[in-house]
Amino acid sequence: MNVSFHPGEIWRDTDGKPIQAHGGGILYDNGLYYWFGENKDGENYLDESKGFLHRVDVIGISCYSSTDLLNWKNEGLVLSAEKNNPQSDLHPSKVLERPKVIRNPKTGKYVLFAHVDTADYQYARIGVAVSDAPTGPYQYLGSLQPNGHDSRDMTVFQDDDGAAYLFFSSEWNKTLRIIKLDDEYLQPTNIETTAFVNQSREAPAVFKRNGKYFMISSGCTGWDPNQAELAVADSPLGPWTVLGNPCIGTDADITFYAQSTFVFPVAGKKNTLIAMFDRWKKDNLRDSRYVWLPVTFDGDQVKIGWYDEWTVTIFER
Ligand code: GAL
Repeated sequence: MNVSFHPGEIWRDTDGKPIQAHGGGILYDNGLYYWFGENKDGENYLDESKGFLHRVDVIGISCYSSTDLLNWKNEGLVLSAEKNNPQSDLHPSKVLERPKVIRNPKTGKYVLFAHVDTADYQYARIGVAVSDAPTGPYQYLGSLQPNGHDSRDMTVFQDDDGAAYLFFSSEWNKTLRIIKLDDEYLQPTNIETTAFVNQSREAPAVFKRNGKYFMISSGCTGWDPNQAELAVADSPLGPWTVLGNPCIGTDADITFYAQSTFVFPVAGKKNTLIAMFDRWKKDNLRDSRYVWLPVTFDGDQVKIGWYDEWTVTIFER
């Protein structure tokens, strides 16, 4: 039994195995939390032909379920690599990162989005898959460059009114783009905007509090950590105002050696937000660690501080 969060330490599932859900996101559905992420439990190598990028071949997207956010049951791969088709977006030689799942209230389908790429990161697309159940199997529908824009690090944000938005690093990571999805969440609409123009932000994680929208992002330094930045807006489409680094304390300038991936509220509790970061280990990506920290507010100021150990009772203080 896990009884508290231990950011940066090995996090074991209910079988006692280290959780493989990197670059992940959380879906809360029907009383259960689902954690989707990259399974990186494969051999690490340096792809010299692709500009010396550390990588693990694509295995697939993992899903874990939990009632308490601490103890996670492995639900297996919900989208697996396609080993026999080198042309497939899901071939092991490709890139499959930052999966996020939302449920469409109209169709009842679970829609999975992920960054799909070639090993040299030139393909730059968003892959879309759908399922009737959160734990899959997900049917891969294909990939797109939303409205013709290149897309690398990405996330999806579902608003209270049912509208959903893709946020993605575009224009060779120079500028972030936000596009509203259609009612089925399967296609982009023509409602789109740019943010952080020429500011090279990636790893976007979006959340809402008291009617305001917030975004944490990182700079572009590959697997190496850098300083996070928080921005605020009155609408997901912006305009976004930069507030600065939300992290405080020792190693706040390098996001506690980690990079943002997702922020989510604890179900049934007001103003309880958990920020998820990845502490990448580029030489041994499978051993990259999860850094989950409480998001606290000092008035309107967002603060994320380090804890060696914590539980959600922290929000009751
Ligand atoms: C990071 C990105 C990760 C991964 C990595 C590869 O910038 O946030 O998701 O793509 O680069 O080097």
